[in-house]
Amino acid sequence: MYTVRVNGLTLFCTMSNKLLIYTFLFSLGLLGVFGYVVFTKSDEMGRQNLPVQAGIADTTGTEYWHAPDISTLEKNPEREAILYGKDLISRTAYYLGPKGSVAQTTNGMNCQNCHLDAGTKVFGNNYGSVFANYPKYRPRSGTKENIQKRVTDCFERSLNGKAPDSSSVEMKAIVAYINWLGKDVAKGEKAAGSGFKDIAFLDRPADPEKGKMVYVQKCQSCHQLNGEGVKDADGIVYTYPPLWGEHSYNIGAGLYRLASFAKYIKYNMPFGASYLNTQLSDEEAWDLAAFVNSQPRPSKDLKKDWPKTEEKPFDHPFGPYADGFTEIQHKYGPFQPIKDKLDAMKKERDAGKQKKKTI
Ligand code: HEC
Ligand code: HEC
Repeated sequence: MYTVRVNGLTLFCTMSNKLLIYTFLFSLGLLGVFGYVVFTKSDEMGRQNLPVQAGIADTTGTEYWHAPDISTLEKNPEREAILYGKDLISRTAYYLGPKGSVAQTTNGMNCQNCHLDAGTKVFGNNYGSVFANYPKYRPRSGTKENIQKRVTDCFERSLNGKAPDSSSVEMKAIVAYINWLGKDVAKGEKAAGSGFKDIAFLDRPADPEKGKMVYVQKCQSCHQLNGEGVKDADGIVYTYPPLWGEHSYNIGAGLYRLASFAKYIKYNMPFGASYLNTQLSDEEAWDLAAFVNSQPRPSKDLKKDWPKTEEKPFDHPFGPYADGFTEIQHKYGPFQPIKDKLDAMKKERDAGKQKKKTI
């Protein structure tokens, strides 16, 4: 009995030793496979997060502006306004488009179509520095503008329509949201990563014909053959917004200027691109800007814009100009010679002012 028991025990022990060893080896194998997967995956993820890709991003270690956390807002009327403001930016057409629930006063685009992620995306034309810098003098109107006036401009130009009244819940909500977004940026500062990222000039005019070829390859699948975009099933909001035609921005809009268009698409299009992951060369971006902005779109009376001609930017395509360059060069470039001339003229004016002061 005893021996059997001992034998049994021995037998059991031997078995369990083997079992243990097998289990150990098996686990080791599993661990190896798991470790391999985690290691390679995290390496991939790490690479995606690296700020240096294809030589475009900065190597300065700059920390970019990011929006405050909206979930930390306390429950009060201010919070309601900010949340409504955010929704008005990202789903403008639901409220104010041709089938809008509040009014029907715009072309059906959303502010977010051009101010990505509700105006929070790095170099996606975000609102990070707006609160810190308005009211400010703007050469386009030749006046000191507050945020409401700037918002109204985008309604009248980019959304080719009418802005809600300054006393309306909607206008107040939009301004509340923009103010809240920029609340942590010091007055007068421009937050890193806000607005647009610069792009180098070409030393030739931008070419609409070349742009058209890129358009067919890289843009048409979403924005369509005639740039008309695609609406969602309800026909209320655009899934892919229009780039030209009657429902697009008008000739007074910021994107109608080649440099703004090129800067926007270089770091944001095709959809999903970012400053970390660009999909267009500088040439493609400029040529696409030339192509899209050579297509028909709504007009606007711009007689009152840039009352001081010497303050007209290098890429404003309508004269008269103080710099002596033609409309066609102001539209397509090359821009460097115009920019140099404008800078020199400004230097002279500033020197003149300085002289007056010292006299
Ligand atoms: C078709 C594109 C487009 C749409 C749609 C659009 N905007 Fe803009 N917006 C621009 C461009 C381009 C600028 C100028 C950016 C620059 O030059 O730095 C701008 C500038 C602004 C600015 C000033 C930013 C700054 O840093 O000074 C505000 C505020 C603004 N838009 C609000 C709005 C609001 C609100 C809406 C919706 C009602 C809207 N925009 C819709 C293209 C657009
Ligand atoms: C995969 C689909 C897709 C592709 C491809 C694409 N876009 Fe877009 N584009 C979008 C979407 C979606 C928006 C609006 C973003 C939002 O509302 O969040 C947009 C917005 C825009 C806007 C600003 C809004 C407007 O309609 O004026 C411009 C300009 C633009 N795209 C240009 C281009 C160009 C140029 C290309 C080709 C290089 C391109 N896009 C490729 C999906 C795409």
